[in-house]
Amino acid sequence: MNTRKLIFLNLILSCFNYISFAQQIVSVSSPDARIKMNFSRSAQGVINYAINFNNQPVIAASTLGFTFNEPKLLLDHFDLIAIDSTSHDDTWQPVWGETKFIRNHYKELVLQLSFTDTKPIKLNLIFRVYDDAVAFRYAFPEQPDLQHFVIADENTQFIMTGNHMAFWIPGDYDSNEYPYQHTRLSAIDANVGKLNTEIAVKTIFDPSAVQTPLMMKSDDGVYINIHEAALRNYPAMNLLLNKTNNTFKAALVPDAVGNKAYLQTPAVTPWRTIIISDRAADILASKTILNCNDPSAIGSTDFIKPQKFVGVWWEMHVGKSSWDYSGEQVGSQQSSKVPHGANTANVKRYIDFAAKHGFASVLVEGWNTGWEDWFGKWKEDVFDFVTPYPDYDIAALAAYAKEKNVRIMMHHETSSSVTNYERHMDKAYALMKKYGMNAVKSGYVGKIIPRGEHHDGQWMIRHYERVAKATAAEGIMVDMHEPVRPTGLHRTYPNWLACEAARGNEFNAWSSGNPPEHETILPFTRLMGGPMDYTPGIFTIKMSAYNKDKKEQVHTTLCKQLALYITMYSPLQMAADLPENYESKMDAFQFIKDVATDWDDTKILEAEPGDYITIARLQKNTQRWFVGAITDEQSRIAKINFSFLNNKAPYLATIYKDAPDGDWKENPEAYVIQKVLVNSETQMHIKLAPGGGTAISVFPATDEDKKMYTYYTAKKK
Ligand code: NOJ
Ligand code: CA
Repeated sequence: MNTRKLIFLNLILSCFNYISFAQQIVSVSSPDARIKMNFSRSAQGVINYAINFNNQPVIAASTLGFTFNEPKLLLDHFDLIAIDSTSHDDTWQPVWGETKFIRNHYKELVLQLSFTDTKPIKLNLIFRVYDDAVAFRYAFPEQPDLQHFVIADENTQFIMTGNHMAFWIPGDYDSNEYPYQHTRLSAIDANVGKLNTEIAVKTIFDPSAVQTPLMMKSDDGVYINIHEAALRNYPAMNLLLNKTNNTFKAALVPDAVGNKAYLQTPAVTPWRTIIISDRAADILASKTILNCNDPSAIGSTDFIKPQKFVGVWWEMHVGKSSWDYSGEQVGSQQSSKVPHGANTANVKRYIDFAAKHGFASVLVEGWNTGWEDWFGKWKEDVFDFVTPYPDYDIAALAAYAKEKNVRIMMHHETSSSVTNYERHMDKAYALMKKYGMNAVKSGYVGKIIPRGEHHDGQWMIRHYERVAKATAAEGIMVDMHEPVRPTGLHRTYPNWLACEAARGNEFNAWSSGNPPEHETILPFTRLMGGPMDYTPGIFTIKMSAYNKDKKEQVHTTLCKQLALYITMYSPLQMAADLPENYESKMDAFQFIKDVATDWDDTKILEAEPGDYITIARLQKNTQRWFVGAITDEQSRIAKINFSFLNNKAPYLATIYKDAPDGDWKENPEAYVIQKVLVNSETQMHIKLAPGGGTAISVFPATDEDKKMYTYYTAKKK
């Protein structure tokens, strides 16, 4: 339902021109009136926006505008032609997601502006105020005096009202694979990222630049998250901080010749999103980024299936086998060779395991020629995406998988030779269809070709969308590694199930890894834009199990790996460890077998960025709930209130928890499994080990369960 009001301001504004200070021109509030935006215009025509939350300033008066390279213009002062205000309230159903329904409720204000140099240029500013956020974008309507134009800079400011605490990674044109820093704004120093030599390609461009989603907390306890939504045909936005006044400015990723974006009217920018709450849980629950994206562009979505998969994958990361047919290990200093992982017999073993335990698919990496020519080379013609290695019988494996009712998940490592990938894409998808494959994991390791382009520049943003469209047209689901970080486009392309675009679990196998707080930060940062293929489920925590000299390890307990299936939302979840590591711990593996990947409801029970997260989710079309609770390096008691059950009838809760002496470093694999009855009145207190977690499945109790188990009672001290 929409209401609309158009205010013509020509008269009023001509009066403002004679006043030498900024005049408030209009304000707009969220439906619940807690967020209020004020707009002002100075005598020179500079337009500012400011945001208050609960009557406290959150963004101080900040400017808007652009620098163009063609035509050469600085769009920094405007006449206000008209203000158009509407409100909107509807509810829609995602193809898959964290909740069955999503409400899209906001007030919108459009400032129709005109910039006059020699000829007038029309520019509209579109603002939406939600109960939990503000989103705004620039729109250039079709107009006689502006057709094609080149953006040199977007001059959007976000002026913070204090030296907030922030969770950040260095501003970068190519990589998001950094561990998070947690500092005040004044202590931001992106050069720390230079120490992360384990990241294949990175381009840190300014010591004061950080990436979005940027999570902040004010000393008054207000949580502020800045990101963007619907990033299409435009470069990604980093944020450049001026520490003297806590002012962020948009810093767009440049192209090979230093321009930022090439646009043609009518054109819009992505939405700039500022999510605000005094409860951390509300940040995680926000649907604003999805709401700002367009509805599904895919006709039939029947082929899209949220799912769990296993894969010939971790064994390469732990150095047990290789991608390369010759057995050479990527990046390894060792001269010793290992077996080639993607051989027919080994893949059959994974297919058998998937079929036995109910996994939908088996990812196979290293099946195709090119890996021998892969790492660190800035060249074309590495992979053709259709030629298997001699020990990989693609036809026989397709038949075997079909017989076992399992799909093989294709892998396309592009080596960032993207022109090469675009030349081969059609053939590559045709091969997949021929062999019954309907999902592909792609990857962009290395420096981009066309040379000089960046992973997050406009050229690549258009490429990722082209892949989303091309795969959708073929009925293929896609999971991208090393793409730009997501901005909610999975609403428009629901076949684009997941992305990596952050520091995944794999870093624990071969680098200093991900500190225990990492997974308590990711949902507040990277996951704000969309699901992550984090690859949870590692049971053999220490890499010394593969080679006694190895010091690397996963920085969590085993139970925290289970809890990640709930706290790290994705419709595509890998059971990432080796079949043999699961075979020896089948009782704990049961949780991974049971856990769902698509949900009717989600309740954020406890949350604090960098400290802890507890979430309960209701599996789609069932009464089965799953709970995950994680902590950082501190042990803590998770307080789980089961009122989400809405029902006094008993449920059987199977609790997978850290052993009393559990510890991510000293004793990470020790766990206890307990079964108890619970109902909507149960309040559970569970100890999480340092770096630990708890996973709970909560299913309606059968008559037998009711006889066998007793109700949960809190332990007496
Ligand atoms: C990096 C990806 O994140 C990882 O999952 C993959 O195995 C390698 N690249 C090889 O493509
Ligand atoms: Ca990666």
